[in-house]
Order: sequence, then C-alpha cells, then structure tokens
Amino acid sequence: MSYNTILLDKHDNVAVITLNRPEALNALNAELLGEVVSALKEMEADSEIGCMIITGSDKAFAAGADIKEMAEQSMTDMMAADVFGHTQKAFMHDIKKPVIAAVNGYALGGGCELAMLCDFILAGETAKFGQPEINLGVIPGIGGSQRLTKLIGKSKAMDMMLTGRMMDANEAERAGLASRIFPTDDLVDEAIKVAGVIAGKSLPSVVMAKETVIKAVDIPTQDGVDFEKRCFYSLFSTEDQKEGMAAFVEKRQPNFKNK
Ligand code: HXC
Repeated sequence: MSYNTILLDKHDNVAVITLNRPEALNALNAELLGEVVSALKEMEADSEIGCMIITGSDKAFAAGADIKEMAEQSMTDMMAADVFGHTQKAFMHDIKKPVIAAVNGYALGGGCELAMLCDFILAGETAKFGQPEINLGVIPGIGGSQRLTKLIGKSKAMDMMLTGRMMDANEAERAGLASRIFPTDDLVDEAIKVAGVIAGKSLPSVVMAKETVIKAVDIPTQDGVDFEKRCFYSLFSTEDQKEGMAAFVEKRQPNFKNK
C-alpha cells in the first residue's frame, strides 16, 4: 500500500512507521490517523513482522491533533466522523503485536495520546510531553485523561492537564510515562534493537504478555489475575513453551518456531 502522510519501512522483523507531515509538526489529521491504522493492520497481517515502531522527526513526534482541521468543526461533525474513536478501537482491538512509540521532540495533545496508545514509550533526550488542550478550550479526546492518569498518577496528571505544561524526558521517565531514554540521534536505531529483541521471542507469548499487561490497567486485579492464569496455562499447549524450557535446561538459546 502507498501512503501520503507516513513512511513505512521494514528492518528484518521490525516495522517502522514514521509520521511525515513536517510542515505541521506531524499534526494528526484524519488522513494521517487513517494511514497509521492501515499501516499497523498491514504489518499485523505480515508474518515476517514481530514488532512495530511509531516515530516522528527530531523536532516532533506529533504536536497534537490538527488544530486547523478541527477549528471550525461542530460537536455533531466531530461525533459523526469520530476519527479519534476509530483510531483507538483499532489500537485496542485489531493490533495484537506490540507497538513501541519512539518519541523525539514534541508529543503534545493527541501526539502524547498516540504515544500512550502504543504499548510503551522510548524517549529521546529532547522529548517533550504535554496535554495542552486546556489552552485551546478543550480536553484530551483520544484517551489521554484516562491513560495519562493510569501511567503517572492523579496528582501529576491533574498538574499536566490543568496547567497545560510540558514534561521533559527525564521527568517522563521518572513518572513512568517513558520506559527508557536514549540520545536523540540514536533513538530510532535503539528502538529497532528493542523491537528486534521482542520480535525474536515466541509470538503467542508476546501477544499474551501484551494482553495481560493491558488487562492489568483496564480491569479489577482479580479478573486480571484470572485472565493471566488462563493465558499462562494455555501457553503450555505451544511447541515454543516446550522449546523455551528445554533450551533453558540444556543451557542453549531457544529456537522458537512461531516468531
Ligand atoms: C495544526 C500545527 C499544530 C497542530 C503546530 N502546527 N502544531 N498545525 N495542528 N497541533 C503548525 C503550525 O501552525 C506551523 O504551521 C507549523 O506547524 C510549525 O509550528 P510553529 O508553531 O511555528 O513551531 P514552534 O514555534 O517551534 O512551536 C512548536 C509548538 C507549537 C510549541 C509545538 O507549534 C504548538 O504549540 N503547537 C500546538 C500544540 C497543541 O496545542 N497541541 C494540542 C492540539 S489539540 P505554519 O503554517 O504556521 O508554518 C489536541 C486534541 C486531541 O491534540 C484530542 C482530540 C479530540
């Protein structure tokens, strides 16, 4: 498939989706969000790919939803198109393989929300995260109020959403928004290495690891624990579980079949 607002590259078993609207700091218009979802689905269906990365430019991961596209929209226009709802549904229901956000520069508003829709965030040293919607007379609309609060806690989420201030990479890593920080110039290469490690694991266990962590934040603990137990036991029906444990006992690297 060909795309106008993103670039899609494959590095062995890792796919890199690069947001590519430099003239608008990768602002998320309907076309770009639709293309991100299409590319993720294309890579989900590609048996060579085990992990995806979404990244932007050194200056901006994405500076938010496209304000120029939204400015004149009415409430009914926004509800009828529901672009942000479609994006979230695709991430939550259609994409089972892991997706990493590699964030350099601004990740603001919908940009921060897109990063949080990914499974985890790797930050470049110059990353700046924020939910500045309050300055535009709105609030986050792609799940940011919920995901940010779950990731960094009520006090910091309130601070970010009510003041509209930005958080740098160090604060984001301390707060639990980003999992690791890399030098800006190395970020994408390092993200590809991290994704390559994940893509080298057994896919059924990767998919279940992702699903169980998502359950941990979405449902009551006991339900999550029960779900995890069912997933865990079911993995004992795979060849890869036998191979992974045999390899450990035999002191060698596993040769997983389902990658
Ligand atoms: C549309 C945007 C944009 C955005 C930047 N641009 N952000 N266009 N939507 N979100 C455009 C600018 O208009 C400008 O275009 C070009 O990108 C470069 O931006 P500058 O402002 O000139 O760059 P700079 O001075 O370096 O400032 C960078 C910045 C600033 C601090 C990131 O651009 C900024 O504050 N952007 C808006 C951030 C924001 O409020 N995001 C939340 C959006 S609301 P021209 O044509 O003038 O050169 C949101 C809601 C999500 O995300 C919920 C969905 C319902």
